[in-house]
Amino acid sequence: MASASSNRSERVLAAVPTEADQDVYRALAANAAKGVGVVTARQGRWDVAVTITDHLSISYDPPTMLVSLYALSRIAEAVTQADRWALSLLPDSLRPTADWLGEQGSPLVGLLGQVPHFRRDADGPALIDGALAWFELRTTAVHEAATHVLVVGEVVAMGSAAEPGAEPLVRFRSEYR
Ligand SMILES: Cc1cc2nc3c(=O)[nH]c(=O)nc-3n(C[C@H](O)[C@H](O)[C@H](O)COP(=O)(O)O)c2cc1C
Repeated sequence: MASASSNRSERVLAAVPTEADQDVYRALAANAAKGVGVVTARQGRWDVAVTITDHLSISYDPPTMLVSLYALSRIAEAVTQADRWALSLLPDSLRPTADWLGEQGSPLVGLLGQVPHFRRDADGPALIDGALAWFELRTTAVHEAATHVLVVGEVVAMGSAAEPGAEPLVRFRSEYR
C-alpha cells in the first residue's frame, strides 16, 4: 500500500541547474558523514596542504585511492605535478588543523609551521602527526569531472601515527562531529 508521507521531498533539476538547485544539492549531499583528511604535496620547496573530505579507497589490489580536488586550486596543481603526494586521515583532536588547512587563501610560507608533521624522506610530502592512517601515493590517472579533478593514486607507503584510543574527525551536515 502506498503511504502518504509528509517527510518526503523531491526536486527535478533544471536542464542547466540553477543556484537554488545547487543549494538543495549541497544540503542533501552534506548528509554523507565523511572522515576528514589532509592532502599534502611538495611544490618546489613549499608544502601545499588542504583539508578534504572527498577521498575514497578504491582497491586493495593494488592498494589504490582517489581524491577529488577543485581543479583551479593550488593543491590540484601541486598533486598533479608532484611524483608523490599524501593523504592523512585526522583524529578528532586535530580539528584545529582541519580548520586551518580548510581556510581559503592560507599562506604557503609557514603553512605547516603550527602543524606537527613528519616525512619519510627529505623530499617527501608531509605526513600529519597523530593521523589515524597515512598513505603516500603516486598518481596513476587524473580525470576531469565538472569543477574538480579526480586524482587516482597507487599507494607506495602507508602507516599510522595515531595516539592510543584516537577517534576519527567526522564531517556531517557541514559540521565536525
Ligand atoms: C571540511 C572541509 C572539507 C573539504 N573538502 C574538500 C575536498 O574534498 N576537495 C577540495 O578540493 N577541497 C575541499 N575543501 C576545501 C579546501 O580545504 C580549501 O579550498 C582549501 O583549503 C583552500 O585552498 P586555496 O587557498 O588554495 O583556495 C574542504 C574544506 C573543508 C573545511
